[in-house]
Amino acid sequence: MSNYRTTYDEWMADPLSFWAAAATAVDWIATPTESVVDPQGLASWFADGTCNVCWNAVDRHVVAGRGDEAALIYDSAILGISKTLTFSQLLDAVELFSSVLRSHGVAKGDRVIIYMPMIPEAVIAMLACARLGAVHSVVFGGFAAHELTVRIDDAEPKVVVSASCGLEPNRIIAYKPLLDEAIANSRHKPEAVIVLQRPQLFCELRPERDYDWNAEWSAAITRGDRPECVEVRSTDPLYILYTSGTTGKPKGVVRQQGGYMVALVWSMKNVFGIGAGDVYWAASDLGWVVGHSYITYGPLLAGCATVIFEGKPVGTPDASTFWRVISQHKVNLLFTAPTALRAIRKEDAGGVLPQKFDLSSLRAIYIGGERGDPSVIKWAESALDVPVLDNWWQTETGWPMTANPTGLGTIEVKYGSAAVPMPGYDIQILDAEGEPAPIGETGSIAVKLPLPPGALQTLWNNHGGFEESYLTEFPGYYKTGDAGYIDQDGYVFIMSRTDDIINVAGHRLSTGSIEEAISTVDQIAECAVVGVADGIKGEVPLVLFVVSDGASAKSAEISAMATSAVRSRIGSIATPKIILSISRLPKTRSGKILRSTIRKIANGEPWTMPPTIEDPSVLDEVSAALAGVGLPEKLGTEGEI
Ligand code: COA
Ligand code: AMP
Repeated sequence: MSNYRTTYDEWMADPLSFWAAAATAVDWIATPTESVVDPQGLASWFADGTCNVCWNAVDRHVVAGRGDEAALIYDSAILGISKTLTFSQLLDAVELFSSVLRSHGVAKGDRVIIYMPMIPEAVIAMLACARLGAVHSVVFGGFAAHELTVRIDDAEPKVVVSASCGLEPNRIIAYKPLLDEAIANSRHKPEAVIVLQRPQLFCELRPERDYDWNAEWSAAITRGDRPECVEVRSTDPLYILYTSGTTGKPKGVVRQQGGYMVALVWSMKNVFGIGAGDVYWAASDLGWVVGHSYITYGPLLAGCATVIFEGKPVGTPDASTFWRVISQHKVNLLFTAPTALRAIRKEDAGGVLPQKFDLSSLRAIYIGGERGDPSVIKWAESALDVPVLDNWWQTETGWPMTANPTGLGTIEVKYGSAAVPMPGYDIQILDAEGEPAPIGETGSIAVKLPLPPGALQTLWNNHGGFEESYLTEFPGYYKTGDAGYIDQDGYVFIMSRTDDIINVAGHRLSTGSIEEAISTVDQIAECAVVGVADGIKGEVPLVLFVVSDGASAKSAEISAMATSAVRSRIGSIATPKIILSISRLPKTRSGKILRSTIRKIANGEPWTMPPTIEDPSVLDEVSAALAGVGLPEKLGTEGEI
């Protein structure tokens, strides 16, 4: 029997009491007595409470006598090594690194950018910021210099923490040249850059600005100071995490301290069914929200061990890596993206590899970050013999809006659905007029305000942008940007985006920023980027571009320039899969590019002639151009309702 329905109804009946009860699961410095919701529906969760998230994630477990239990399990499938840090060792490391940061003047409210690969030091740096009340902003290690510049200019960090390199299966990624270029191009200049020299690649340090992580660490040991956890308000920012919007400028989602802590602790127990002593593995990257919530904060707040995995689901060295990690570290729950399972299935369709490992510790697999196609879910259920459960959320919300909750008791799986709304989320499907759509009808997915603890209440330095992006279109609701429907049993089906965001291998990318990168090539007059379905990555970028008048290069050379611009400005993860030159782009009479029609043609979906099109014959040219290319294999829709 699942407690889902009664728990959801309990929340719905009295949200403030529900969250006040949940808040007793964490330690506060000043215990909160109230949460406040303003007339617009924005919430200040646990408004008068004060706390420290690092205390709750680390110190508290040591004080409780659990210092010798595993906290961080670093497993590098690329280097073939693994290393475990206990809670006591983690505390020691976090204290030392917070001393390092403090020696560079970092104090409460200061920003610190963390640009690092998947190594324990990245988590240590995050927690050290939390200890000092400083606001971290982790930038995904796969982002190139321009993306880093934009974030440096927006967050204005006092210090940047980085490493000499990241490790991809086929190459070493030198971080320092990217960082140097990013800082050279940024308006804001950090006062110090602390760099961990990894033995795989040493980098040069600039004496006037750069500091060696190890030397700083030794100096902190010599100094012997151990910064205490700094008291912060529940509503103070813990971190800023940038995410793609529809324009090239990313949005700085602000995560507040107290509410996040309460929501994560609640979700670890009630959604994922995980508690102290368990081993949780989110096979994501610290640079994404899944990494923030379920590699660093959620598991550690819950007192369980978290796996930091440096590697890929395939090719490091093969498609059995995930199963090796689970059996070696006795993982109880795996959180991964459907893309990873599809990549594994491609190499092991018969599900033979899992049988070679003892996977008895594994209780469930959660998938998220992109749509979970029924066929891969069924494949994983049969290959692993555990429930494979969907959950849907976003950088903005910080934790699942819908899920099939193991902790409350799982409910029936409906393939193709991301399951049911979690407490905190009153999810509604709205039509174009903002009115609730009938059951089963597709519309915009919106959440009735207020958003629960943990979810964003503003954007960094851009409250106006927050209101415009999320609150204006449907007054009284938060607009998720996703479209879908709810069935008669209350299951939510996420079908597509309502904007120009695409989801490549579980990574959220803005087509606007890819277009912006391509427009830096002066041989290109204009371009359109859309997402096209892909059998492994879900979606991949497709580019149509028009050559500038008088351009001398051949179109293949110009395509290569465009690809290279995307890789060097955004990062390799955004590499266009298909890039085609075309003589004109389809536009409305007012000059807007008809991207959604291009997307439908590219995906072989039914489309109708847009009434506002300037010249209908351009669409014939688009169809002809796309007919000539091998489009990526689509995801199957088998099993969908
Ligand atoms: N740093 C630097 N470069 C990175 C990077 C990082 N952290 N992550 C990816 N890249 C690069 C890759 O090296 C690759 O470069 P290339 O084009 O020069 O080969 C490019 O970005 C694309 O990488 P990736 O998306 O990993 O594709 P892939 O073809 O190498 O691997 C998969 C395919 C399916 C194995 C991979 O996409 C994957 O593991 N997906 C799951 C991702 C995931 O878990 N997302 C969940 C987020 S919640
Ligand atoms: P991000 O903010 O990077 O986590 O991306 C969030 C977006 O990814 C959502 O708005 C959805 O479009 C998509 N997404 C995340 N999880 C799911 C899921 N379980 N099913 C379908 N789409 C998802």
